[in-house]
Amino acid sequence: MKGIILAGGSGTRLYPLTKAVSKQMLPVYDKPMIYYPLSVLMLAGIKEILIISTPRDVEGFKELLGNGSKLGMKFEFAVQENPNGLAEAFIIGEEFIGNSTVSLVLGDNIFYGSNFGNRLMRAASLSSGGIIFGCYVKDPRAYGVVEVDEQMNAVSIEEKPEHPKSSYAVPGLYFFDNKVIEIAKKVVPSPRGEVEITSVIDEYLQRSELKVEVMGRGLAWLDTGTHESLSEASNFVEAIQKRQGLYIACLEEIAFRRGYISKEQLLDLAQPLIKTDYGKYLVEVALGLQNAQTVHS
Ligand code: G1P
Repeated sequence: MKGIILAGGSGTRLYPLTKAVSKQMLPVYDKPMIYYPLSVLMLAGIKEILIISTPRDVEGFKELLGNGSKLGMKFEFAVQENPNGLAEAFIIGEEFIGNSTVSLVLGDNIFYGSNFGNRLMRAASLSSGGIIFGCYVKDPRAYGVVEVDEQMNAVSIEEKPEHPKSSYAVPGLYFFDNKVIEIAKKVVPSPRGEVEITSVIDEYLQRSELKVEVMGRGLAWLDTGTHESLSEASNFVEAIQKRQGLYIACLEEIAFRRGYISKEQLLDLAQPLIKTDYGKYLVEVALGLQNAQTVHS
């Protein structure tokens, strides 16, 4: 499976923070926001990732992430000229995806939870159809909303409904087979002028090829869309990391534990960061001072 991170948009709800800087480059406590969705794809076992951003911001992401080789990964970059909708990612990424299955994660979605890595690995082993998640939220009106029956089968899906039929919001993490490219090409733009991911999901639903995995209380899905929620996400990451001494979305650690890089390579990566707690943490991980079994499971 291949992965796509969509880190576009104009971020106007976070102005003036995002007037000159990509939203997905903003700090969430101690690391840029894009580290979090990138860690999700890495935990799913995906090694080839396309990062799509705006013409203005794509160079910044190249500088931040490079070609991925230092992490034993492969990163490519592409531009979305205009914010035409999430499903356009599959059209922009057509050549990159090739004949593969694909996961799309939005560059501003943050997940944290026990056993999440195993769920991701399972989802990434999909061979046909699509998998989305359903997260219970107090007010789902700002999201895609999936209605499920008692057996947790999807019944309907709507984008930002005024009167939601359920409390299950669909987070920005999707797994599809290769048909997604052709399906995305046929989507008619919505009234807000976007090629909606919800239309793609609905097509899988109509074909009875959609699986919904409902997330329980143990999974934190954090929003970063407003100043308040961005600050709350930072505080959440800080609290967990300080309490546990284990890092969320530490890309170098994941690469090391997955066997993509050696202990020596990890120590090299730690060097330029050594003045920070993050860098010191990498050294601890390399020297085995953290219990591998408990981390990122
Ligand atoms: C997008 C999707 C929506 C999804 C949300 C998750 O919304 O359209 O279905 O629930 O991401 O973050 P947008 O960020 O475009 O408002």
